[in-house]
Amino acid sequence: MQQKIIILDFGSQTTQLIARRIRELNTFCEILPYNRFPHDDPSVIGVVLSGSPFSVYGKDAFTLDLDGIIGHYPVLGICYGAQLIAHSLGGKVEPQGTREFGRAQLEIAFPDNPLLKGLDNPTQVWMSHGDTITGLPEGFHVIASTKTVRFAAYQSDTLPVWGVQFHPEVYHSLQGSRLLENFVIDICGSLKQWSPSGFVESSVSSLREQLGNDRVILGLSGGVDSSVTAMLLNKAVGDRLTCIFVNHGLLRKNEYEDVIRLYEGLGLNVVGVDASEMFFSRLKGVSEPERKRKIIGAGFIEVFENEARKITDARWLAQGTIYPDRIESLNITGKVIKSHHNVGGLPDRMNLSLCEPLKWLFKDEVRRVGREMGMPEKLVSRHPFPGPGLAVRILGEVTPEKVRILQEADDIYIKALRSWKTGEPGMEKPLYDQIWQAGAILLSDVRSVGVMGDERTYENAIALRAVTSTDAMTADWAHLPYDFLAQVSNDIINSVKGVNRVCYDISSKPPSTIEWE
Ligand code: XMP
Repeated sequence: MQQKIIILDFGSQTTQLIARRIRELNTFCEILPYNRFPHDDPSVIGVVLSGSPFSVYGKDAFTLDLDGIIGHYPVLGICYGAQLIAHSLGGKVEPQGTREFGRAQLEIAFPDNPLLKGLDNPTQVWMSHGDTITGLPEGFHVIASTKTVRFAAYQSDTLPVWGVQFHPEVYHSLQGSRLLENFVIDICGSLKQWSPSGFVESSVSSLREQLGNDRVILGLSGGVDSSVTAMLLNKAVGDRLTCIFVNHGLLRKNEYEDVIRLYEGLGLNVVGVDASEMFFSRLKGVSEPERKRKIIGAGFIEVFENEARKITDARWLAQGTIYPDRIESLNITGKVIKSHHNVGGLPDRMNLSLCEPLKWLFKDEVRRVGREMGMPEKLVSRHPFPGPGLAVRILGEVTPEKVRILQEADDIYIKALRSWKTGEPGMEKPLYDQIWQAGAILLSDVRSVGVMGDERTYENAIALRAVTSTDAMTADWAHLPYDFLAQVSNDIINSVKGVNRVCYDISSKPPSTIEWE
């Protein structure tokens, strides 16, 4: 049985980070809304209570009956989680007046405590809280403090229950991973069963069992998630998997041909459908971004469905859904919100069952699984690319000529990102691998003035975007070297006909989004 840690989510922005840190410890974990603890699941070996934007004593507070959890499993409360345990068991939590936010030095009173052993003393931790614990329940004692927070970490005298006021899951808590390792491996007794090779092996055998001799269809996009799904299924059912790759004409330069070739080289059974003309004709005269998205989404399903119907004996539709697509997170009102599902009713209409072999994986785990199966690095480390493709990177109406201009500029930019390396001597990495996502945007409604000889010209402006991120929920603009930007700007203006100006986008998300439309 696969052991698991349950993370009960009280709405903190860093809940997913806790999960990713635990997975990095080769331990499976699942995020559940705070009131959905699986009391009868025998594979649970420990529980983490997350942070929250709320106060434990507020009228909207999330309350949880800790009976049935405390005393039954090792428990670690983080921030709100720690306050909730203290508050529920008779301790005291009070508002602080001002929110404490930022780095703090944690002074450890008991360096041999199972949760804190091996940490430097003092060690830097990250605080982000408005309330603070001012009294521990009876039977609990403090194990670490900071200058301003007396009960920064505490433990029960008799039960495996800990609380920490800081956030060990964030990068700025320098030894947070060590603390989580102490909890997950030593205290909960994880056997470290979760690994890319273990995942491949167990998925292939469970897919064989699930699919039997049935035929499976999968929509490939050229992206990491659908490609890794295809490889996994190919390992499980071989050529009973048919992959369909639709070209909507809004892909990067040469991408359709390159990716099909790459897939065929991997032994996948791929059907390519070039529907560019249809998409261009439907997008004619349309400039509103959401309408463009709807047209492309509906057109994609139509083409895919037409093709899929030709495979008359198919029983399954496979999808590259990953864990963050499915996590039920809590919004600010405490309501559970479920992220979109991107199949648009297709399985029901076509009477197919849905198969989602990556549904438990985070993006970085998907990449590791891809590498484990020997997929080429170029495919595994690809940046995310939006489903509607270049249509959301061309402001206003999309035409084949605008797509051509943008493809040329984007190609120069992406190739340069792949070849320009930075880093300590001996540790240099291409810029491409240091960022989450990059692309060029055609500001086609802007008429940019230029001079060519003695003539004034009116041409297009291109914006370049590159961001760092871990999940696309928040992102910062990448601080690309000036020399690099200078070279790319020069190359684009000199070689892409129709472009006479290049800008670099220095907005972070929020408030901006990654895509311009
Ligand atoms: P934004 O622009 O919302 O983008 O910050 C976040 C991530 O989502 C991608 N994106 C899309 N992906 N269909 C998609 O499949 C879309 O309509 C779409 N819009 C944005 C974007 O590239 C980034 O990775």
